[in-house]
Amino acid sequence: EKGNHAHFMQKEIFEQPIVVAQTLQSYLRPLEEQVALPDMAFDLAGFDRISIVACGTSSYVAMIGKYWIEQFARVPVEVDVASEFRYRDPVLTENQLALFISQSGETADTLAALKHCKRAGVKTAGIINVPTSSMAREVDLLLSTHAGPEIGVASTKAFTCQLAVMAAFATNLARAKGKLSPEEEREIVRHLSEAPEAMNAALGHDEDIAGMAGTIAEARDVLYLGRGIDYPMALEGALKLKEISYIHAEGYASGEMKHGPIALIDDAVPLIVIAPSGPLFEKTVSNMQEAQARGAKVVLISDAEGIGRAGQGTIATIEMPKVHPLIAPLVYAIPVQLLAYHVAVAKGTDVDQPRNLAKSVTVE
Ligand code: F6R
Repeated sequence: EKGNHAHFMQKEIFEQPIVVAQTLQSYLRPLEEQVALPDMAFDLAGFDRISIVACGTSSYVAMIGKYWIEQFARVPVEVDVASEFRYRDPVLTENQLALFISQSGETADTLAALKHCKRAGVKTAGIINVPTSSMAREVDLLLSTHAGPEIGVASTKAFTCQLAVMAAFATNLARAKGKLSPEEEREIVRHLSEAPEAMNAALGHDEDIAGMAGTIAEARDVLYLGRGIDYPMALEGALKLKEISYIHAEGYASGEMKHGPIALIDDAVPLIVIAPSGPLFEKTVSNMQEAQARGAKVVLISDAEGIGRAGQGTIATIEMPKVHPLIAPLVYAIPVQLLAYHVAVAKGTDVDQPRNLAKSVTVE
């Protein structure tokens, strides 16, 4: 079943351009140059607030969704991990949509949060991979991902498919709210259609990443930095590394470094910096250089322009194609996943079945 791959995780990383294309197919109408969601019993324009609730890797899609929805649709978004949402007695209102994200559709905390919202009369939607799951049956609006079965415990292809659906949702909401011109929507459809090809280009760096994995595998701690949508990507990088390689890793918003974490920096702590060129680039680079001045070994993941400007003094760079911010996380997820994968292989851990973890967390 793994074909010519050593692990399910590797197979699932490499499947991403195909399953993301499959997922996008049901959300893009290339002829009309529009994004389309399934029919729904309510008008998206009626929502003035969105709550997004999920666990783990799915919660990072929620965070990225917050940046997109607020930027494109100007609708305020709050994000919670499901275990916190349930017990903090959240303020629930009629003009609010509650959006749940889950690969399995069975995660106990997320399912309980969904039921809680339904009992309170809040409209619900779900970005869910398993169409027969409990959550898929409960939500008012099902936004399916078409990643296919994900076997590796570490989520990879479900994550990028969730991002693809989130991008379509944010675009649709922006149109419903009158914040998107037909030209802007056309541009977005064009960029989203290009995502699978850009993801293929990212996969082309597999061997370089395998080559640098040995250095990272020796570390006791690894830090990941990013700003804006790359902050949740940094969190995802750190989670992926810790869960499969058992190396302690943390993701930080770059601007937070000087508020504490920089104290951890020395030449034994690799720093993985996720920074496509763009308006936030210089700021992230200045945080990166502060760490370099303290001996940090930096791996910079950026595009040609970013690497040209800031690649000096790093131990390695990983060059991504230059892409629109709406597809950047789909592309940058790949080097982040490959790095965790190859470090785990270098350490000889059980990549597909990491210790203490289950694929579907059906207890609190
Ligand atoms: C990380 C991972 C977990 C899941 C989390 C939520 O690689 O797989 O953090 O993302 O348990 O699971 P779902 O999306 O099934 O609700």
